[in-house]
Amino acid sequence: MTNSERDKAEIAARELTKSEATERTVTVREATDWVASRNAMNRDTAYELLLTYNKEPFHIQHALTVECVMRWFANELGYGAEADFWALVGLLHDLDFECYPQEHCVRQQKLMREAGLDERLIRACASHGYLLGVDIAPEHTMEKVLYATDELTGLIGAVALMRPSKSVMDLEVKSVKKKYKQANFAAGCSREVIARGAEMLGWELDELIARTIQAMRACEGRVDV
Ligand SMILES: [Fe+2]
Repeated sequence: MTNSERDKAEIAARELTKSEATERTVTVREATDWVASRNAMNRDTAYELLLTYNKEPFHIQHALTVECVMRWFANELGYGAEADFWALVGLLHDLDFECYPQEHCVRQQKLMREAGLDERLIRACASHGYLLGVDIAPEHTMEKVLYATDELTGLIGAVALMRPSKSVMDLEVKSVKKKYKQANFAAGCSREVIARGAEMLGWELDELIARTIQAMRACEGRVDV
């Protein structure tokens, strides 16, 4: 092969590689779009899925509360463009708890995959069981907010119900802190998880409580918290 022929062969090989790369990029993009559209789940479909595995009004109400709280935090923390996604995570985070309490956050990964849900959503929901049955640590801010507020919304809701108003509107941080310190009050709401969640976010406990009260105030009336 002459020098000129070798040059031509190299140029042809480079062109071929370029076109293969372009083709591969298009294929990957199409596949990504396909997966995205396949996994797209609107709120009605997500709510139907929730009701498939949850019949207890308390559980459904908790899902609706966390949905609303997650949406508020998405907007509050500058993730407004992803607010629908944060809200979906809130709505479905406890999907398996009523039917499979012993496999909480594990079984739902299978259920969600069968329902064709987005892997990001599956991961985010499962991560709130970190150190409580799964080893998926919250990484994204959304996951940390879910971890920190899930149990706390239960505690705040319980404190609000003790008040004459039965409302979060006139609830103050100090009232929640007082009950937070009483281990036998709303004992199912893990103080350890709430504290760990605040630490993950880099927030003081008071700040987490104050912001979560604000979130629940925004939801009151829309969700029976
Ligand atoms: Fe929850």
